Amino acid sequence: MQLCFAPMDWITNCATRLITSQIFEKYWKKSDSLNLRTEFMNVDGFLINPNQVIKHALTTPWQKPILQIYWWKEETLIEATQKIQNEYSGLFSWIELNTGCPSNTVMKVGWWSDMLKDKEKTLKIIQKLSNIPWQLSFSLKTRAWLNENDKIQQMDFLVKASKYCNKISIHWRTLKQLYSWDSDRKFIHEVKDKIKKVWDPNCKIIGNWWINSYIDAENKLLEFNLDWVMVGQAAIWNPRIFTTHKPILSEKCETVLKHLDYSIVCDQRFNEKIVNKSWEITVKDLEIPLEWIEKKVKENKNKSGLQPHTIVEFRKFLFQYVKWIPWSKERKQQVLSCKDYQDLKTQIEKIFK
Ligand SMILES: Cc1cc2nc3c(=O)[nH]c(=O)nc-3n(C[C@H](O)[C@H](O)[C@H](O)COP(=O)(O)O)c2cc1C
Repeated sequence: MQLCFAPMDWITNCATRLITSQIFEKYWKKSDSLNLRTEFMNVDGFLINPNQVIKHALTTPWQKPILQIYWWKEETLIEATQKIQNEYSGLFSWIELNTGCPSNTVMKVGWWSDMLKDKEKTLKIIQKLSNIPWQLSFSLKTRAWLNENDKIQQMDFLVKASKYCNKISIHWRTLKQLYSWDSDRKFIHEVKDKIKKVWDPNCKIIGNWWINSYIDAENKLLEFNLDWVMVGQAAIWNPRIFTTHKPILSEKCETVLKHLDYSIVCDQRFNEKIVNKSWEITVKDLEIPLEWIEKKVKENKNKSGLQPHTIVEFRKFLFQYVKWIPWSKERKQQVLSCKDYQDLKTQIEKIFK
């Protein structure tokens, strides 16, 4: 089974991808593979002031994530993707254009889901991007459709886009459905059938909506005749979802502590190597050697006062990891007051006791 970890802003950073891929490498089924994606990167920002956005592209050897990008202007998208290919192609599996994220503000400015309003224009952009002599291949991530009235046009858009893209990841909810339970199952079948009939293409369809276990992924792949499946939110609280492994409590605790350590060292690396640079950011700056990570984790072990900002940021992961533990609610208050690395580690260990 071909599995994908969905791109999620503020979530699928280098540390999260590393912990998820390490678990996968340990417990994977030999017939499976896992694709990772970066958070989306604003390519206008990348061209103007790369050190403001390039944190999303931090990675480690072997991860080879798919770099997800967004913007609405053709020239900017083309210039940025060419630059990424020329300078950083070794780091990524391929490049993906986001045309699916919802946001009321964004729906007025032209990128993400707003690109689905003017489908002709977006198709032209996709066609132009696919004409670049790619070292990296190119994919699209999108939504089912904007609303009921848009369904037929979206089907047509997907069929046409499949001619230019290697893969299309479809979040099977409309813009209106946001992240709810609903989805139109019939539409999923129709899209696949239509694309197959029209082009018999090489374009793979990646299905994505509320997959909540490994078995669920297997079932949805078969039921909807998908090529690949993508998991988003359920992988935040369960990074083992891409395997059938069932961990004991102490192992879960170990994962959380490791994720915290990786979050700290990835931020340390960014601060050391990238934050003050702009154009001279190299592949070496962006690819963090695993030995460097392990060495830093050891050095940090008994230190206090590390990366207070990262410690506060890590709460969003911790609260997801422990939400199924009834007594974690009582501990939440103590976690909220933690700004120090050693204190947070102690609180995590207490929750998992
Ligand atoms: C916190 C959060 C951030 C997200 N950020 C992105 C993003 O950067 N790019 C993108 O294409 N989709 C983004 N998405 C959408 C997810 O990739 C995915 O399509 C969606 O969560 C549906 O999958 P799920 O039902 O398994 O969660 C985000 C979703 C969430 C919950």
